[in-house]
Amino acid sequence: MSRAAELITFNEATSAEAFASRFGATDDATARLLSAAVGHVHELIKEFRPTPEQWRKVLDFLTEVGHASDERRQEWVLFSDLVGASALVEEINSRRPAGATPNTIRGPFFRADTPQRALGSSISLDDAGEPLLVEGHIEDLDGLPVTTAEIITWQANAEGYYENQQPDLQPEFNLRGLFRADQDGKFQYHTVRPAGYSVPGDGPVGRLFAQAGYPLHRPAHLHFVVRAPGFETITTHIYDADDPRLGEDALFGVRPELVQPFDRAMIDGKPTSCVSVRFVMVRARQGRSK
Ligand code: BEZ
Ligand code: FE
Repeated sequence: MSRAAELITFNEATSAEAFASRFGATDDATARLLSAAVGHVHELIKEFRPTPEQWRKVLDFLTEVGHASDERRQEWVLFSDLVGASALVEEINSRRPAGATPNTIRGPFFRADTPQRALGSSISLDDAGEPLLVEGHIEDLDGLPVTTAEIITWQANAEGYYENQQPDLQPEFNLRGLFRADQDGKFQYHTVRPAGYSVPGDGPVGRLFAQAGYPLHRPAHLHFVVRAPGFETITTHIYDADDPRLGEDALFGVRPELVQPFDRAMIDGKPTSCVSVRFVMVRARQGRSK
């Protein structure tokens, strides 16, 4: 059949098909996803029937999102996070056996160059905030300690800001640390209680969502990446059970097994909160990247 004979007349009923017929067969996953997404966009336009002016506003918003993104800020990732797409991709790709620690999104504030710290030391370099002791242990699904585990943690300060959001106010690498588990698969460090915070609301995505009354709040949490040879890497959060806004996480990251009490106790004569965390790792499975 000639190429002209394959052309489908474009009208409201055939628009998606007309587009798809021009899109060659490809194995490229991004191209296939985009092609399918266009079909959904056509459906959406038929359902909402925007005027050219209304559609232009949508395009202007998407343009602004692009302009707000650079190597330090990724507004598209924020968009994906806020609409639950990042959490859904994580949920589908890192489904784990019962009892294993679930993955949640990593977020933009992780630093791969986090320095190693001694077990039992403090990651609070300015001592600003209410003391918190974090005690953790890492085990496999059989309850055996994972003694080769490496733990990277990062968190917001008592005002709800990460060190890389306030380079002039917080010391470099404040509230970050890389630890190696001991011979029992355990680790311990001192820090301060993190506050909940709002995801960046000063860009086009934050502005649009805030205007629509959409919550931008994240309840107080600690971030962790736990890795060990032969195991799937865990990227997860631990949430403070006392945070009254646990149910409002803007990024859909709260799972019941990730919520822990930050109990208050007296340690060395000082009022200190303590949280106990347990990470359960699964052995690396074939065909999985993490
Ligand atoms: C975070 O938890 O650090 C975070 C994740 C996504 C967007 C903003 C912040
Ligand atoms: Fe965070």
